[in-house]
Amino acid sequence: MAETTTGNGLPKGFRSAEQGWPELHRIPHPPHRLPLLGDILGASRRTPLQDSLRYARELGPIFRRRAFNREFVFVWGAGLAADMADESRFAKHVGLGIANLRPVVGDGLFTAYNHEPNWQLAHDVLAPGFSREAMAGYHPMMLAVADRLMDHWDRELAAGRTVDVPGDMTKLTLETIARTGFGHDFGSFERARPHPFVSAMVGTLTYAQRLNTVPWPFLLRRAARGNQADIAYLNRTVDELVRARTAGGRGDGDLLDRMLETAHPQTGERLCAQNVRRQVITFLVAGHETTSGALSFALHYLSRHPQVAARARAEVDDVWGATAVPGYDQVARLRYVRRILDESLRLWPTAPAFAREAREETVLGGAHPMRRGAWALVLTAMLHRDPAVWGADAERFDPDRFDPKAVRTRPPHTFKPFGTGARACIGRQFALHEATLVLGLLLRRYDFRSDLAYRLRVTERLTLMPEGLRLRLERRATPAPVASGPSPAVEDAPSELRCPVHRAAD
Ligand code: HEM
Repeated sequence: MAETTTGNGLPKGFRSAEQGWPELHRIPHPPHRLPLLGDILGASRRTPLQDSLRYARELGPIFRRRAFNREFVFVWGAGLAADMADESRFAKHVGLGIANLRPVVGDGLFTAYNHEPNWQLAHDVLAPGFSREAMAGYHPMMLAVADRLMDHWDRELAAGRTVDVPGDMTKLTLETIARTGFGHDFGSFERARPHPFVSAMVGTLTYAQRLNTVPWPFLLRRAARGNQADIAYLNRTVDELVRARTAGGRGDGDLLDRMLETAHPQTGERLCAQNVRRQVITFLVAGHETTSGALSFALHYLSRHPQVAARARAEVDDVWGATAVPGYDQVARLRYVRRILDESLRLWPTAPAFAREAREETVLGGAHPMRRGAWALVLTAMLHRDPAVWGADAERFDPDRFDPKAVRTRPPHTFKPFGTGARACIGRQFALHEATLVLGLLLRRYDFRSDLAYRLRVTERLTLMPEGLRLRLERRATPAPVASGPSPAVEDAPSELRCPVHRAAD
């Protein structure tokens, strides 16, 4: 803890909004603010994001909230969010929620401060791990994990049971990143209880989340001891995995091989052992819950929109035909399935906000002066519902919003589920390939029947997830074989020549 906290329990360098925004009084806040306590009336510790969406609707494109000794500025209007995407004036801010993870993953890719040398080193060493070539290598492993999910769902179906969508999607995505990243198998589908590594990981995330909302961390003294034990367990397990890899020679070209073997192309530098450990934990954490939530929301919407599901299924049948095992290139050709994912991530971006800070003194949107280092949270979940961009029916699920023509008519920086700029998600292509593949496989094999009494409730951990979502499945007949020529070139596959992370307009 010492690395990141100050005497008042806030992360070192934490700047409350009054320190960074000289004209903060011009930014609205919720009514009924209480002295010392702030805007806590009517706010829930369990749903801070959904509370922020409510305030956003009441208060407009920029607003602030105060909880005890911390004040935060939120930005969601499309114009202001686009301004914050300007990399020459703004950069990632390692905000409270992320800084609380530093005791676990330190200067790992997700939590590194912009100035820390290990960020650039790890980014350059690991970015090729997300190139088209690398992704094609992960594809058979993703298929193998999806098979385990479908075996499990077939058994549930045969037993007349409904399936636990978020639970099973989390098992799937965890096994996928563990297998493709580190050649590891947690046996999630075969276990009655989560693997202890998974429990420790969830424990550290929950603790970090609680730190966000308690005014004084000493209130969590007992939980802090449990957290230390969880961190120690995570470290020991990863160290063991790395030892086994180095003792047994190479894996099959996975991320861990890259971390251990690749030298920086210009400097020849390598990641040190401590940083490798931090990256392994980072990828296991960052690489599964977000994708699992995206798949879960998509399945919810598919079960509620039978015409959308029918159109997606027709596309899968058409593109894949009777191919037992879809090839890598056949996944990106599922363009309508991909639009369903985009539309689900629009309404529920599973990482629902990201923080940006001013590199120098600047004026946000020509109206709000900011000192150097001042920061705000870009509320993606609300940016994606801005009626000025998405229309009066912004709350309606409609995958055709991602039809290429519709996309071209929208201003840039209005769809940001993967963040922005140099620190945008390195796993974007990985997540989209995995999720499109899995949705294609599930659409082809099952019809989804939702419980009509179910009302979407969203749980907030570090990420968003539909709570208590269960679906009843029906097995579909396998489609008749269709003649299929070689797959046409995939327009949106990342080029090996470009950094797979830094793509035009993100
Ligand atoms: C639908 C799935 C996903 C979503 C919505 C998502 C979202 C995001 C967002 C919003 C950020 C930027 C955070 C910030 O600015 O503070 C981010 C960063 C990151 N993501 Fe993802 N992510 C997803 C999947 C993945 C996967 C599958 C991996 C790994 C295989 C991954 C690894 C990372 C890493 C390492 C970073 C930090 C990058 C850096 O700062 O250099 N993510 N992600």
